[in-house]
Amino acid sequence: MSASSITRDTFGNTKDGKEVHRFTFTNKNKITIRVLDYGCIITDILVPDKNGEVKDVNLGFDDMEGYLTRSPYFGAVIGRVANRIAGGKFSLDGQDVQLPVNNGPNCLHGGVRGFDKVIWDTTVDGNRLILRYVSADNEECFPGEVTTTVSYQLSDDNVFSIEYTATTTKATPINLTNHAYFNLAGQGSSDLDGHVIQLLGDHYLPLDENTIPTGEVMAVEGTPMDLRKPVPLRERMKEVNGGLGFDHNFCVGDGGKLKFVARVEHMPSGRVMDVCTTEPGLQCYTSKNLKPTLGKGGVTYQQFSAFCLEAQHYPDSVHHSHFPNSILRPDELYQQTTTYKFGLKD
Ligand code: BGC
Repeated sequence: MSASSITRDTFGNTKDGKEVHRFTFTNKNKITIRVLDYGCIITDILVPDKNGEVKDVNLGFDDMEGYLTRSPYFGAVIGRVANRIAGGKFSLDGQDVQLPVNNGPNCLHGGVRGFDKVIWDTTVDGNRLILRYVSADNEECFPGEVTTTVSYQLSDDNVFSIEYTATTTKATPINLTNHAYFNLAGQGSSDLDGHVIQLLGDHYLPLDENTIPTGEVMAVEGTPMDLRKPVPLRERMKEVNGGLGFDHNFCVGDGGKLKFVARVEHMPSGRVMDVCTTEPGLQCYTSKNLKPTLGKGGVTYQQFSAFCLEAQHYPDSVHHSHFPNSILRPDELYQQTTTYKFGLKD
């Protein structure tokens, strides 16, 4: 990867008056990506279309007020545990742990104040921005002090890479992801018309009425969940979950090796996004729970107007011993690399 440049300015303040900084990555192909030290939030992703017209393809807010008061995790890093933990509780090494419950009966996205709602320390190292957060023992009732780093980098071949590491002082579940909401027609477009998705999951996880995996690992073959060949996204969403679209984990591999897992193309503009990850799961979420939300540039975002491809471990892994292990122990290093590449259709 060759150089992009990183600049820094002030974005706003938290409620308790802490300054929030914004870092801007630019590369030679007119791509601009902005991120905050609050929640490692990706605020903007500006990419050209086939005619060179640059648009922002990432939902977000113009100011901190939006992120502090009404964000459904736009652009943020999620931790300690992305997605739901059923009943907000689990047992680990004989200890029962009760977490805060913030989504029906479940604990969602790390609890009430997850990694998306804290300020991270930052270091710029060449063309990399490294963000670091130390989560105290018992924070959101999770065991162990966890030190997490997130490293963001934009290359001149348009790859935005996210590398995560974590260590802990006690055994604890860890499942990190980034929750960017995309619309390749440009943020603020009212639907996902014109998007074509390909997602290389042979299996997916069926869900119960609380959006918790039932434990089955089901083949996609012969079902609307089969996205292994490119299909129009909006039309396929209508066939899934009674028309509510995707909010499902696809099983995309054994984890460990960086591999291509998904591509979304927006036919009218020619914009293409490729996702590669080392994670075993990819949560495809087509914003069924997105309520009308006033976003960037005065646009009101609508239900079904964005998609998320969140690379992660399987949801609720703490309750399913046959899912890939999500427990990190003191002598171990958690590592993840996920990349989003922005390009144009051939
Ligand atoms: C989950 C959805 C949830 C959304 C916003 C996604 O990761 O899969 O169920 O509504 O995040 O919280």
